[in-house]
Amino acid sequence: MATLTLENAKVLVIGGSSGFGEAVGRHAAAADARVTLASRSADKLRAAAGRIGGQCATAVLDVRDGGAIDNFFAGQEPFDHIVLTAGQLPPPGPLSLEHMKEQADARFWSAVHIARGARFNPGGSLTLVTGSATLRPPKGIAVLSAIGAAVNALSRGLALEMAPVRVNTVIPGPADTPLWDGMPPEQRTARLEQIGKGLPLGRVGTADDVARQIIACMLNPFMTGSLVVLDGGASI
Ligand SMILES: NC(=O)c1ccc[n+]([C@@H]2O[C@H](COP(=O)([O-])OP(=O)(O)OC[C@H]3O[C@@H](n4cnc5c(N)ncnc54)[C@H](OP(=O)(O)O)[C@@H]3O)[C@@H](O)[C@H]2O)c1
Repeated sequence: MATLTLENAKVLVIGGSSGFGEAVGRHAAAADARVTLASRSADKLRAAAGRIGGQCATAVLDVRDGGAIDNFFAGQEPFDHIVLTAGQLPPPGPLSLEHMKEQADARFWSAVHIARGARFNPGGSLTLVTGSATLRPPKGIAVLSAIGAAVNALSRGLALEMAPVRVNTVIPGPADTPLWDGMPPEQRTARLEQIGKGLPLGRVGTADDVARQIIACMLNPFMTGSLVVLDGGASI
């Protein structure tokens, strides 16, 4: 029977050095999981592991590089739960074709490589993360939204093809994480407050809000193929 705790579970968080991923790592470690955080920057990983405390392993991995993902999983024992939160915003303004392809590598093809390369213990799960723009694209980011929408569709197909491994996708709305740090601090605060005021709950999400949902995807043994919108009611 699938266990309803994360105690001793082997959890890999790709994108774990910041934001949603770090929060997942923190919640999982607090539940006595054996956590590995992966992302591009060894320094950021070390800092995140230090903030989480305990015995958090780290691995440098760039999800734009499919070969690196294949090599990483070739050397790994099976995991219980894998989470993919890695992603960064493209530069502002119209996207070049090069940036579009880079975003597709980081967000879509990364998930394909993980699904093909990773091995899971019984009761295992893969959780992907996209964003509410995949359901209601704002003007100006059509390709980025479509890449995320393709990930939503991919996760439902993978839920069939990888069963009994469970595959789910969490679709957050705007949330206050370091993703927004590219903006000047005052502008960042004002923008997030303005977005939050327009939501039924009166605020944007936090990394912890999203992490709680990701942990629920790991733990619910009947949950697969689900696309979970977590946007503070923005889409009502
Ligand atoms: N925050 C929001 O408002 C929001 C809303 C909806 C959707 N999302 C999406 O949710 C995901 C996570 O967002 P977040 O808010 O947690 O962002 P974040 O705080 O900026 O964290 C992003 C994480 O991804 C890692 N990363 C970026 N590019 C990578 C790559 N090529 N290979 C491996 N790791 C990579 C970063 O670490 P390194 O720099 O060390 O690589 C970092 O750990 C992103 O895809 C974002 O687009 C965010």
